[in-house]
Amino acid sequence: MIESNFHISVMLKQLVGALQIKENGIYVDATLGRAGHSQLILEKLTTGTLIAFDKDETAIKYSQDKLSKINQQFILVKDDFANLENALRKLNIPKIDGIIYDLGVSSPQLDNSDRGFSFHRDGPLDMRMDQGQSLTAADIVNNYPFEELSKIIYRYGDEKLAKKITRKIIEVRETKPITTTLALVEIIKSVYPAKLARLKHPARKTFQALRIAVNNELGAIEDSLNQASKLINPQGRICVISFHSGEDRIVKKIFADLTKSLLPARLPIKFDDSAPFINISIKKVLNSEVKDNLRSRSAKLRIVEKR
Ligand SMILES: C[S@@+](CC[C@H](N)C(=O)[O-])C[C@H]1O[C@@H](n2cnc3c(N)ncnc32)[C@H](O)[C@@H]1O
Repeated sequence: MIESNFHISVMLKQLVGALQIKENGIYVDATLGRAGHSQLILEKLTTGTLIAFDKDETAIKYSQDKLSKINQQFILVKDDFANLENALRKLNIPKIDGIIYDLGVSSPQLDNSDRGFSFHRDGPLDMRMDQGQSLTAADIVNNYPFEELSKIIYRYGDEKLAKKITRKIIEVRETKPITTTLALVEIIKSVYPAKLARLKHPARKTFQALRIAVNNELGAIEDSLNQASKLINPQGRICVISFHSGEDRIVKKIFADLTKSLLPARLPIKFDDSAPFINISIKKVLNSEVKDNLRSRSAKLRIVEKR
């Protein structure tokens, strides 16, 4: 099977521009992917360093080659960005000047059917970003009890039909295990009202939910952002692109905490600069970008800066 490496970076100039890069600074790309954003950062560095994370081995291998053609001011780390603090400590990097996150999956992960992320292509029910991890989507679909599985589909997929879908999954798996993406798609379709199926692919929300659960996506964002807030130098920025409400809710909540005044309410003070961070902006993707890259349609960029 030929592996696709095609990925259009979302909000490329806005995200990298938001970092306000100094050529000697230390920057982190938490979600390397096919190194679109990383390349642009690296091109701006002379004596600075880029540290880029991805837990997908294929992203690391591809990007190592791509980035080494620009300069050698980078370090790639194959790890979960939830381990940010630990990984930087091992590299003897106590502080950073900025960090970006371009959350979710890359196009190559979706397009390579053997990764099992796509509801359009048949493949194993896998969905692991880190292929060294043991938990797969098939494990969840075939083993989790009703309550847990329906909660995952409801919470992470915002799927109102979660209970109905879970009941059907359990009925089918009692006769034989569900092991492929299209087998799961057929099960979901069989209980989906035709009227709703015409509006959106019936499997979209369930697949999103399983992907989030397999990769512990929401827990990792929370852990990583909290660590990043302690590692950032003054005037350094944390910049995050989220793609769905579950991701955005977490980013919004953490940024609200970071930009909240530390003073007691109703103190007679004119200028309150007690909050550790200030809000810079919230940007939506431009329509012109969505025309060329449908995947970007729900992208939202939030930026905060350390005082
Ligand atoms: C949307 S893609 C990033 C694309 C990249 N910005 C580019 O321009 O090519 C997200 C990448 O982040 C990785 N990723 C997602 N969550 C991660 C996590 N918790 N730890 C490490 N990597 C993660 C995925 O494996 C994927 O390669």
